[in-house]
Amino acid sequence: MCFAAVLLLVCLLPPASLQPQTGTWTQTWTQTGPRLQLSHSDLKTGSVSSWKGGVSGGYQVLLVDEDRGWILVGGKDHIYLLDPDRLDLPGRRIRWTAAPENVERCRLAGKSLESDCANFVRLLQPFNKTHVYACGTGAFHPQCSYLHLGGHLEEPVFVLSHPLESGRGKCPFSPREPFTARLTDGELYSGTSVDFMGANAAIFRTAVQGSSQDYIRTEAFDHNWLNEPDFVGSFSIPDTHSPDDDKVYFFFREKAVEAGQWDRRVHSRVARVCKNDVGGKRSLINRWTTFLKARLVCSVPGPAGVDTHFDELEDIFVLETKDPQNPTVYGVFSTSSSIFRGSAVCVFSMASIRAAFNGPFAHKEGPDYRWVEYKGRIPYPRPGTCPSETYDPQHQSTQDFPDEVVSFMRQHQLMWEPVLPLGGRPVLTRVNAPYMIRRVVVDRVEAEEGPYDVLHLGTDDGKVVKAVSVIKDNGETEEIILEELTVFQSPTPILSMQLSTKRHQLFVSSDLGLVQLGLQRCEFYGSDCADCCLARDPYCSWDGQTCSRYFPPGKRRARRQDVKYGDPWSQCPPPEDGPAPPAARPVYGVEANATFLECSPRPAQAGLRWTVQPDDPQGAERQIQGDGRVLQMKGGLLIQVLVPGDSGLYTCRGQDGSYSQVQVRYRLRVVPTGSLGPARGSNHALDRDLDPPRSYKDLHLDLGGPGGPGPGLDQYCEQLWYRERRQKQKLQKLLKQESRKKARVRRHFPPGGPQ
Ligand SMILES: *[C@@H]1O[C@H](CO)[C@@H](O)[C@H](O)[C@H]1NC(C)=O
Ligand SMILES: *[C@@H]1O[C@H](CO)[C@@H](O)[C@H](O)[C@H]1NC(C)=O
Repeated sequence: MCFAAVLLLVCLLPPASLQPQTGTWTQTWTQTGPRLQLSHSDLKTGSVSSWKGGVSGGYQVLLVDEDRGWILVGGKDHIYLLDPDRLDLPGRRIRWTAAPENVERCRLAGKSLESDCANFVRLLQPFNKTHVYACGTGAFHPQCSYLHLGGHLEEPVFVLSHPLESGRGKCPFSPREPFTARLTDGELYSGTSVDFMGANAAIFRTAVQGSSQDYIRTEAFDHNWLNEPDFVGSFSIPDTHSPDDDKVYFFFREKAVEAGQWDRRVHSRVARVCKNDVGGKRSLINRWTTFLKARLVCSVPGPAGVDTHFDELEDIFVLETKDPQNPTVYGVFSTSSSIFRGSAVCVFSMASIRAAFNGPFAHKEGPDYRWVEYKGRIPYPRPGTCPSETYDPQHQSTQDFPDEVVSFMRQHQLMWEPVLPLGGRPVLTRVNAPYMIRRVVVDRVEAEEGPYDVLHLGTDDGKVVKAVSVIKDNGETEEIILEELTVFQSPTPILSMQLSTKRHQLFVSSDLGLVQLGLQRCEFYGSDCADCCLARDPYCSWDGQTCSRYFPPGKRRARRQDVKYGDPWSQCPPPEDGPAPPAARPVYGVEANATFLECSPRPAQAGLRWTVQPDDPQGAERQIQGDGRVLQMKGGLLIQVLVPGDSGLYTCRGQDGSYSQVQVRYRLRVVPTGSLGPARGSNHALDRDLDPPRSYKDLHLDLGGPGGPGPGLDQYCEQLWYRERRQKQKLQKLLKQESRKKARVRRHFPPGGPQ
């Protein structure tokens, strides 16, 4: 199984360097393939369990309770309760539908009964020790309720309470509208629309269990506040030691007002509000008086100041650190243009976000003016500051703010300076890849050299990509794609990802269900120290026997790991001490026919190097360069038209930097055309089973597939892979038969024949 995975990796993901064809844009994208690529069937036998979904689909929201060991999944008309350790068990479910009259109204409004007019559960937030707050779209009539789970470690209660509360301002009407919500201190902060058409979108705070009058929001239908926003995430982050300064941050993308009236450009934003904002007294009643927003930039600097922008925020992850005021913010951004499609991950510090909010305001004098930096007088207290009883007794509430402050806030929501990413560029880019990145979660992993932030990325085609960005001693950063896992059986966008650091597990949902993954699969990287080291996975190290999960020192004896450079020379005993190079396998080819010598690099190896020591006593060992007749392919060496001089000892070495390892050796013997005896035909079936003589053509006949080394390479690789699986089963048989075969060959080719 590991074998199969390795071969697939080699076939499908060569390092690629992409150079888009455009005059203004000359960025070169150097992207390497993943160290490990596992198909859905490879994964099934690994540390994975999955839940095929109940009856509904649309599993957009997950809530994991690490301590009590349950996971909630919101779907269409249902909430499911599963055991995170045994996802394959059926679990329990509650049916929660929309009221029939709302379904009917939804249908009459022209919406689809199947994909709109149902209760799509969009929100599951912890409420108190015993209850979870849940909201659903209720057939375009959002509704919320409390889910009773009980507070104990034994079997959860799992009952939905009635009556329902209105979900307006808490949950979108549509099952597909991007949306965010966070329940904190009994209040729900949300970014959602509050109308059937999805036109009236706002950032709300509503009191859970409060009256429906009890809310505060951004101004309606004012594009300076929000302009067709798509909400991505929201987080409560303290600003100082004073709880008065606590703020909630919102992340979204929207049509950029500052880009000009006719420019439909989208910008990504971070916005914030004070938790203690109660709105204005005479003006801005029930409206935020502390709402500010700034542009989030994720771009790759180019020559002559021409940057490549990844403008559209897709997901955000706030990585908590020891300092609660300063988590690290990870964002996934995308871009799609006629030139290229790409995703990037950028990292932001809270310091840079705060700096933008403390910087100058953007200003527009009137409809016919351009956006400029505001250079006028800024009223006191500075707009955007939270009122504080302790520090500013004159302004204990936002209702005490001077009119001057409130009217400044009506006109200035946007900051002039954007928030730039740490390092001035993305930590990871995937350009013109077969997939776009849609979700991110980040795990800070203690490794031998210190902590690494490992990214787990969810794609739009059902994959989870694990990556790490490494900063070298010279300050350069290197992105390493460690794994690419196909977690769902057919391509489908990843909808939600939840990390359980305590359980060392990742939960991934899509329309097709839920999958639980371990965070590492070290054993797949290979079975010796060099492979393990070259993989550079912070979760893995060589323990002297196997490649296995790394535990920080103190818990285990010395472990070998080198994430920064992946240098096996420094970590592993030299290969001479390791296993002896493999014995040469005999291969027979017929003159003028083709032969294929298989050899695949291990996951961590960048490429292959072939050498041949010709049988001709005068010939010296030489490296094979490849020409029209001899082709070096990812899965091996193809000699298209054999000549007698090709006989010799062929060695294939896996190569990673200066480190090379003998992978396989073949002793090729080219049989002159005339020398095949008539006995051969009768043994044909047996011959084929026994591997040599193997011709490239045979391979295809064998598999019944077309394609050649050129255009059909992928197909060819796929075939090879299936063949490999079948061959593995035959391997034992082959080994037994090898001695018999040798004897038989000797009969055919008496003295002077192959060894
Ligand atoms: C949690 O909230 C629910 C719903 O309001 C309430 O019935 C329950 O008593 C609360 N539990 C605790 C422990 O406060
Ligand atoms: C060698 O190639 C010829 C022509 O392509 C074919 O007819 C013949 O069967 C091949 N021989 C073997 C042993 O594959």
